[in-house]
Amino acid sequence: MAVASAAWKKDPPGPHILVSWKPLYESRRDHITPIARVIQEYGDITLCRLGHVRFYFLNHPDYFQEILVNKHKFMRKDVYFNFLSLVLGNGLLTSEGDFHLRQRRMIQPAFHRERIRGYGESMVRCALALRETWRDGQDLNMATEMMGLTLAIVGKALFNSDVAVEARKVQQALEIILPMDMRYLPPLGWLMRRLPLPSNYRFKQAVRELDEILFRMIEEHRRSGDQGDLLSMLLEAQDEEDGAGMTDRQIRDEALTLFLAGHESTALAITWTWYLLSQHPEVEAKFHQELDEVFQGREPTADDYARLTYTRWVLAESMRLYPPVYINGREALEDTTLGGYTIPKGAQIIYSSYVTQRDPRFFPHPERFDPERWRPEIAEKRHKFAYIPFGAGRRLCIGEPFAWMEGVLVLATLGQRWQARLDPAHSVGLDPRITLRPRNGMPMSLHRRPGAP
Ligand code: HEM
Repeated sequence: MAVASAAWKKDPPGPHILVSWKPLYESRRDHITPIARVIQEYGDITLCRLGHVRFYFLNHPDYFQEILVNKHKFMRKDVYFNFLSLVLGNGLLTSEGDFHLRQRRMIQPAFHRERIRGYGESMVRCALALRETWRDGQDLNMATEMMGLTLAIVGKALFNSDVAVEARKVQQALEIILPMDMRYLPPLGWLMRRLPLPSNYRFKQAVRELDEILFRMIEEHRRSGDQGDLLSMLLEAQDEEDGAGMTDRQIRDEALTLFLAGHESTALAITWTWYLLSQHPEVEAKFHQELDEVFQGREPTADDYARLTYTRWVLAESMRLYPPVYINGREALEDTTLGGYTIPKGAQIIYSSYVTQRDPRFFPHPERFDPERWRPEIAEKRHKFAYIPFGAGRRLCIGEPFAWMEGVLVLATLGQRWQARLDPAHSVGLDPRITLRPRNGMPMSLHRRPGAP
């Protein structure tokens, strides 16, 4: 047990302070390899120092449990979230403390099982519409296709369908904003933001555009009344303690947060699953067998979700190998201890689910794509915090049930008719940015399954 056995020591091992800059500098471009290397060399808790800032890299489920659950009160989101709050304001992803707790309480009902089931119907409808547009033998970029699909789904769930065009505009503004992340981070981020650069101008312009779109939609929703979507729920939400609702600014922050958090990660999870299925025909055959047994040639519905057990295992295994949110972190609010070491206030604590979920101590033969690992009798023997694609504790992803339903229903609806094969000339690589994207997309060709409806 990593936490219990370590004796008290001042600092964990790690590269010498003069060498620490190397993995930290490298990790500004590739956020996985340098972390994996440092962990491999120095152990499950390591320290890199950049000036006075201390970066602790963690690689053990016990530590995740400590920072995300047992010691969550001594933690806030890491420095990266300062960048996100420039765009998302004080929404669920970026807010802290009592304010976050109040917002979470108010928004949680929008993700209750009954509500999610309603969204399930539109998930299937959107996937059915997409599969009609596909043609036998067609070449396409699966990453782009899945991004378009999840954008349509979240656009419908959040803003109702008529505003799909607006959803696309929001996405375009985000494409300008998000690549600025590394430039706006410490130590020089504050300076970079103030320089009269065209990129800074475009950034501000894009944020203004987001504001315009969101405030206009809030205004329209106020006028038209409940539309059964998430934005309507945000408008009606009241705090159970003081009965107060949210200001328009807060609704803007929450809606934008749900929009941003609610489509790219799911699109990536599904894209990586298409890739893995194409490389593992024996898994693909079992997946098809389940679809044929459950659907019996008819169109899927949201009610089929509960019976698509193998499809869920496939998705779970895909998010083990390619977790869309592959890196995460916290900042220590006070001096605390972890694994017997003192973690001082202000330290940045970083962990990568990509690295830990490929650790043979927790997942034997970790490189193997094996959905059978998710059989309940095997999965329940595993450390609960060894698999954390949705985080854990108070800040667990609020959209997790939405994402499972979406991933399973989309894969099943498209997989009932279509099989995808990777372009043989393409070599698949990682593009680890905020999320784990495939480098240069996922070029695939489509094949209609024999006898498919
Ligand atoms: C496969 C899909 C998804 C993955 C892998 C994912 C992953 C995550 C992770 C790891 C966190 C925790 C971040 C932390 O601990 O710092 C998170 C938080 C969050 N996610 Fe997701 N997410 C997914 C889909 C969704 C969807 C569909 C929505 C909304 C419709 C959503 C909304 C959010 C929000 C609002 C938070 C912040 C929650 C809080 O701090 O209270 N996510 N997500």
